[in-house]
Amino acid sequence: MCGIFGCILRHGNAAPLIHAALKRLEYRGYDSVGEATITDGKINIKKDQGKIDEVHAKLNLDDLPGNIGVGHTRWATHGAPLQVNAHPHVDCTGQLAVIHNGIIENFSELKGELETRGHVFKSRTDTEVIPHLIEDYLKSNPSMSFEDAVHEAVKRLVGSYSIAVLNAREPEKIVCARNESPLVIGVNQDAVYFASDIPAFLPLTNRVIIVDDGEILTLSLKGVDIKKIADLKPVQREPKIIDWTPEMAVKKGYPHFMIKEIHEQPESLRNALRAQEHYVDLMSTFLDRAREVFLVACGTSYHACLAASYMFSKLAFLATYPVFASEFVEQHGKSVNIESTILAVSQSGETADTLASVNAARQRAATVLGLTNVIGSTLTRVARVYIGQQSGPEIGVAATKTFTAQLSVLAHIALRLAKKRGKVSQDEMDYISERLSKLPDIVETVIQTQEEKVKQIAKKYKDAKAFFFLGRGISTATAYEGRLKLMEIAYAPAIAFPAGESKHGPISLVESGFPVIFICAKDETHRTLIGNIMEMKARGASIIAVVEEGDEEIKVLADDYVEVPKGIPEVLSPIPYAVPLQMLAYYVSVERGYNPDMPRNLAKSVTVK
Ligand code: AGP
Repeated sequence: MCGIFGCILRHGNAAPLIHAALKRLEYRGYDSVGEATITDGKINIKKDQGKIDEVHAKLNLDDLPGNIGVGHTRWATHGAPLQVNAHPHVDCTGQLAVIHNGIIENFSELKGELETRGHVFKSRTDTEVIPHLIEDYLKSNPSMSFEDAVHEAVKRLVGSYSIAVLNAREPEKIVCARNESPLVIGVNQDAVYFASDIPAFLPLTNRVIIVDDGEILTLSLKGVDIKKIADLKPVQREPKIIDWTPEMAVKKGYPHFMIKEIHEQPESLRNALRAQEHYVDLMSTFLDRAREVFLVACGTSYHACLAASYMFSKLAFLATYPVFASEFVEQHGKSVNIESTILAVSQSGETADTLASVNAARQRAATVLGLTNVIGSTLTRVARVYIGQQSGPEIGVAATKTFTAQLSVLAHIALRLAKKRGKVSQDEMDYISERLSKLPDIVETVIQTQEEKVKQIAKKYKDAKAFFFLGRGISTATAYEGRLKLMEIAYAPAIAFPAGESKHGPISLVESGFPVIFICAKDETHRTLIGNIMEMKARGASIIAVVEEGDEEIKVLADDYVEVPKGIPEVLSPIPYAVPLQMLAYYVSVERGYNPDMPRNLAKSVTVK
């Protein structure tokens, strides 16, 4: 998830506008930045690693000549946040410059092909294949137009992308294309703009053309020419007027980043499912060989580890130990050794307790693996193998989209390990893989069909003094996560525990109207869980249940319920079942008049022990 912007101006230089627009897109990525403009038949580029202000202080991003240009602020997925991997990327001649937001899944295959044809690559990015592909088409077909060469190149790309291409030989146009990554066009009488998000050009124009998936565009001061990539059929589309304030625009019209990020989960799940097979394979090989595996993390990431321990056990018959990172050294510091493997999970990659555990383990020669959302973070530098979950920046302090993305990557690894170990039938693996690939759509359905219902439940229970979150099996992890969300942003005392534990103490807190939230995935624990619901009802508790669609058995027992679509394999259930709990926490927080994005006493990344 990067920020892209570009423009063609009738008057003045493009660079200062590009710089200012990238600042408005900085929430999309901020580990490196770059700009390119065209003058006198050549491409001028300034790019470096670091935040926009840091790079501007070093290179002066306003000082590039030319009325046409593009800019990019990066959220690294392929290649560390270094100057060489910053965008724009150019071809061998330096006459073509490309910026890109998204993930090219078949980049290494294309790169291999282009290298055999003599192309020289400078970066470790997936993006750099694009300018070389366009160059290759232009070189092998001198009569081919710039637009056609971009079209041919785009047809070879597999994955998500919104791209913009500058050609020094054609300084009056920019060619863009979109597949799954956002792209919008802004127009006014003296300029045409493109961007990954409306905030970028909203202070300049509110006349917006939305670009659909599978479209290629040529922008010039004469207008915006849109065609379908599939058959180059022309598309007519009139600009819409957007009446947003810039602040509203950054949140895409949502009142808070948290609810925006909850709604971004289908997209972040699609990106997470694009984790590079090579690294998923490598990681599952290390786990397969390990004598013991510790899953180490804090907070929400720890809950992902807890869920993963069920996935690894049920799919690959691998016992793993989920450990709170702040307790790892005390609990296992002495026993961890060269045959131990640590899988450290951290969205920021900078959490001090998690890094301290990793360092302690490394000192005892253990193998360290990492799962993080921040390429270039400390965890990526100390891990033997790491996977970037590609959720894009998460601004809200409460982790939401990064949690479900972590779970989907961990499920991917567990499935790969299951395949290696042949512990489950091919049919079952195919079924779970197929369901995993459908999760982005399933989560989309949960959000669209249940949000209003969750709002009503939040309104009903907003003044409750305390809450229980209960689940059995892997849903215990979902319960813990639901509890943490409600506590951290609504400041509501909440307790979570495996439902089977209730009668060993906690049930003494229950009195009439006490809200108990049950996570009721339709799995082997379903029958026993009904018994736990009855226990709580017998003490007057108010039952709020997250159930599978059409689960009448539990719906009749519940005072309130939300439904998740059918056919979710048990090991994947925390992903869709966590979403209503995220929304519940958000709406209780709002009902209580708090700012869900900036909860008191908390920080997005806890870099102190
Ligand atoms: C979750 O909403 C919190 N922000 C917090 O518990 C967080 O999960 C924890 O600090 C771990 O952060 P990490 O994933 O960046 O390591």
